[in-house]
Formats: sequence, structure tokens, C-alpha cells
Amino acid sequence: MSNTKIWRGNSTFILAAAGSAVGLGNIWKFPYMVGSNGGSAFIIVYLVCILAIGLPVMASEVFVGKYGRKSPINSLKKLAKETNISEYWKFLGILGALAGLLILSYYSVFAGMAFSYIFNLFPSDLENPSAYSSAYFFDLSKSPLVLIFWHSLFLVITCLIVGIGVVKGIGRSVNVLMPILFLFIVLLSIYSASTGDLDATLSFLFSPDFSSLTPAVILSAMGQAFFSLSIGMGAIMAYGAYMPEKQHIGKTVLTIILLDTLVALFAGIAIFPIVFSNSFLVVTAGPGLIFETLPVAFYSLPMGSLFSIIFFILITIAALSSAISLLEPFTAWMEELSKIKRKNIVALMGFFVWFLGIGSIFSFNIWSDYKFMGLNFLELLDYLTNNIMLPLGGLFVAILIGWVLPRKFVRKNIKLKENSFKVFIFFLKYVSTGSIFLVFLYSLT
Ligand code: PHE
Repeated sequence: MSNTKIWRGNSTFILAAAGSAVGLGNIWKFPYMVGSNGGSAFIIVYLVCILAIGLPVMASEVFVGKYGRKSPINSLKKLAKETNISEYWKFLGILGALAGLLILSYYSVFAGMAFSYIFNLFPSDLENPSAYSSAYFFDLSKSPLVLIFWHSLFLVITCLIVGIGVVKGIGRSVNVLMPILFLFIVLLSIYSASTGDLDATLSFLFSPDFSSLTPAVILSAMGQAFFSLSIGMGAIMAYGAYMPEKQHIGKTVLTIILLDTLVALFAGIAIFPIVFSNSFLVVTAGPGLIFETLPVAFYSLPMGSLFSIIFFILITIAALSSAISLLEPFTAWMEELSKIKRKNIVALMGFFVWFLGIGSIFSFNIWSDYKFMGLNFLELLDYLTNNIMLPLGGLFVAILIGWVLPRKFVRKNIKLKENSFKVFIFFLKYVSTGSIFLVFLYSLT
């Protein structure tokens, strides 16, 4: 592989991987999951999953990508060949690349919605902003054409960035987008903490109610950890191939995980105080928390519309830098597999994803009554990817690196300090593998 596809300096890989990790999962999903699952007890389980499972699995993914220097599928193939293990391990890459396209199809629908909210300014002098907000959200979800418009726009931007290439497209855009994202999240948290009800937020976040921890809550905390860190589907593995040779895997992965977790917690600090400041609003609103509840909260606050715009720009940026990483594994694979130009591959993939996304859009309206096992099309995709494909991908990565590959080979190539390596292998081999397996079994029963 030529060096033209390796990012220069240490920061681009960190920004790209953090860009992949920080997304709707942190700013939209995390706060509402904390809100509906009992607050800080959920956060504690989530943090344990991040450290015990997320950290070792992410380091393993970066390792495979960096070693193979190809798309996840071909990196796995190369690894298998050189260590004399079964070539079937490449299917792990195929499963991941597919999961990426499936996730992107509905991810882009929600990202498009957030995009549209940048331009959704409430008229002044509303008598009942709550009713207005609910009606607005309801109308939006019942208008397939409007949703298709925003879904298409978001996807076109995603495809353009990936189509331009690894260095000039993905590398350059994360260098511009991520600093804006970090600035906005800090700005919003300061605004929210100073204008909203910080006390109520802190007592909500720091007084854990462990009775709310049912097995289902633990499962969703683990699923959320996978989704939020972008692990289990090869996005981080694909980026690992573009990491500079000298960059240290251990430190880098720690930085990415820290950034991802900080943004999720900051998102909580940006959202909860302003929701708590309005006694009519509740943090247990579920998925509608940022689309229905939050705009009402902003409405009653000083400079609320400005900060509402900043908030939705923030989400759109976060979603964009994740969306490109969902498309990259499949694109990189196709690029190696065929003579077709990257731009054309991306256009083709984009069309497939766009088409599939329409199914998710219809789940809000004309297909809302079509259910399979009690789930509509969107819920089915969400379940298939988050509860099955990502944990399965993560489990196999952990088995591959922890159990199957020769220990000497991993030690020599991953270049961790001796003690860190021991801890890494211990966690991967027993804790990560064991807990994903158990939770996975439970989720299937
Ligand atoms: N991590 C992203 C988020 O938090 C979503 C994602 C999942 C991106 C898997 C890439 C791969 O929103």
C-alpha cells in the first residue's frame, strides 16, 4: 500500500476516530437514555462497559487496521494468512461493512432531521410553545417528502466527503469540523449551566438509584457503549489503516475514549439544566427529548434561539463526522476489489443507503402499522444492527485477538508496554469476551 493513504501527524487520526465516535449516540441518544433509565446508575454501568469492553476492543480494531493497512476485510485476510489461521475471519469485516451501510441508512434520517432543526425557528409570542413544538415534530414525522429531502441532503454531503478521499476528504474535513464541535459543546454547557437548573441536574446525575438497573438496562448500556465508540463494525479498523506508523495505539485509544465520554457527559450538562429549568418538561421524554422537549426549553431562555441554532449545528457536525466513518469500510473494500473509481463507488453505495433510508422514513408515517415481531422497519434495523451485529462484531474481534492469534505475534505488533499488554489481554480474553457473550445470550432469550 502506498503512503498516500496515511494521515500526517498524530492529530488527524485522533480527530477522525473521535469524529466517528462522537455523534448522535452522544448528543441525542445518551442524554435520553440516561433520562429514561434512571440517571446516574445507568451512567456508571455505561462507564464500566466503556472501560472493560470498549477500550480493549477498540485497541484491537486499531491494531488490525494498522497492521493490515487495508480495508477491514482485506486486513483481516492478510492477518489470517500471515498467522496461519482460517481465512473465514474476513467475514467479520464483511459483517461490519454491511452493518455500516445499514446503520447509515437510518442514521442519515435522524441527522437530516437535526439538520432541518437548524432552520426551525419558533415564531415569537407563542401562547403554548409546548403544543407548538409537539405539533411541529408530529407534522415533520408525518411528512415523508420533507424527511426525504433532509435525508438526501445529509447523505449527499457525506458521500461528497468520502468520495473526495481519505486524506483530502475525510482527513481535511475532520480537522475543520471537530474543533468547531468541541468549541460548541463547551459553549452550550456553559450557557446551559448558567441559565438552567444546574442543581437539579447534579442531583439527578450524581445520586444513583441502583434499583433501576434491570438486566435490560444493563444490556442497553452495553449496546450504547458499542454504538457510541463506533466499535464492532470496522469503522475504527478502517481508520486504523490510515494511522501513522509511529503513532502509539494505547495512548491514542485512551484519548479517543476520553473525548467520546467527555462529549457524552457534556451533552448531558448542555441538555438537562435547561430541561429541568422548565417545570413542565421532563427528562424522561425518550427519543423526542431533543426534537420536542429541548426547543421548548430554549424558547423560554435568554438568547434561546441563538443557542438552539448552535445546538443543532453541533449535532449535525457530530453526525456528519460519524456518517463518513460508516461509509468508509465498504468503500475501501470496493476500491480494492474493483477498478471502479472511489467517487463512483461512493455514489453507488450512497444510492443504496438512500433507498434503504426511505424505509426508515416510512416507518414514521405510511408504514407505521407494518410490523414484524412487533417492530417497524426502522426499529427492526436498529435492533438488528445495535443488538446483534455490533455486539457480534465486537465479540469476534475480542475472540480473534484475545484467543486465536498467537500471543507473541500480538505482543510484537501492538507495541504496548509489558504491563499494559498484560492488562489488555486479560480484559480482552476474559472480561470483554465473557461479558459480551453473556449479555448477548441474554438479549437473544
Ligand atoms: N459512534 C457514532 C455515534 O455515537 C455512531 C457510529 C456507530 C458511527 C458505528 C460509526 C460506527 O453516533
